[in-house]
Amino acid sequence: MRSFKDFAEITQRDELLSQHTWLKVGGPAQFLVRPRTRDELVGVVVACHHEQIPVHVLGSGSNLLVRDEGVSGVVLHLNAAAHGALQIDGNRLRAGAGALLSHAISESVKAGLGGLDVLVGIPGTVGGALHGNAGGRSGDIGQFVRSVEVLTASGEQRTRHGEELSFSYRESSLNELILLEAEFELAPESHEAITHRMRKLWIMKKATQPLVFQSAGCIFKNPRGMSAGLLIDQAGLKGTRIGNAEISDRHANFIVTHSGATARDVLRLIDLARSKVAEQFGVELELEVQIW
Ligand code: EPU
Repeated sequence: MRSFKDFAEITQRDELLSQHTWLKVGGPAQFLVRPRTRDELVGVVVACHHEQIPVHVLGSGSNLLVRDEGVSGVVLHLNAAAHGALQIDGNRLRAGAGALLSHAISESVKAGLGGLDVLVGIPGTVGGALHGNAGGRSGDIGQFVRSVEVLTASGEQRTRHGEELSFSYRESSLNELILLEAEFELAPESHEAITHRMRKLWIMKKATQPLVFQSAGCIFKNPRGMSAGLLIDQAGLKGTRIGNAEISDRHANFIVTHSGATARDVLRLIDLARSKVAEQFGVELELEVQIW
């Protein structure tokens, strides 16, 4: 068995995670590791397990806030081509977890397969989307998933399907350390019908959400039957700025960062939104964004 030291060639020390997150804030990863193959990935995970080194998995950093102190242990970055292959067979799509969700959507649309198109405009990787059951008002990713290959923290590969797969609002039963690959069942449809649907969703998103700024998507989950954005807006917080981070004046459930922002600025805005909404409406907001 290889030790963690044997992976020096694919390891970077103290790599700033602000360069890898959409919010562009956050401190360094003690070790950022980029396995080039599935075998190398399994090797790193087994070594970390034996040496009790904590492991975090970085997708595309679009739903992630890294604290200014950074992260100790290993951050796995699965951005090599080997982790993001896409393959279509009939009405099934197999997608590596490291593939961008946008890429999986465009390949399925090109093949005349509808379904994933309802996720248009959602950033992130297929793995991240599966983990948090990404979606919106038109549907979520979970409804199309037939099986998922996972890698456990001790380095065992397994396939989850049937009853082992369950998805609910921004949650999934996929709690293993790493998601490797998923199979989706999609529906053959005309190219025109799919692109028409996508265009409508895209226009709606562009009109209501701050896509061009540095943000991490919605910060809070919607409380049952309510909209977190509406509550934060009604609490009068739109446009509130702390340091160089700001509650979007376009959609109050987004925090946007400007040059020089720190994770602390973002965390203070999160606390402010939570406390004002609790005080004024008696609602406890729950985070959607991951915090490391
Ligand atoms: N609203 C306001 N002020 C705001 C924001 C919203 O008054 O600042 C009102 C809107 O006018 C609307 C209602 O609140 O009447 C709901 O807003 P919206 O349609 O934008 O939907 P949402 O519930 O805020 C959800 C998802 C989004 C997803 C959209 C569209 C969550 C937390 N948010 O937003 O997902 O894109 O629906 O499908 O579930 C994400 O998860 O990161 C995300 C952006």
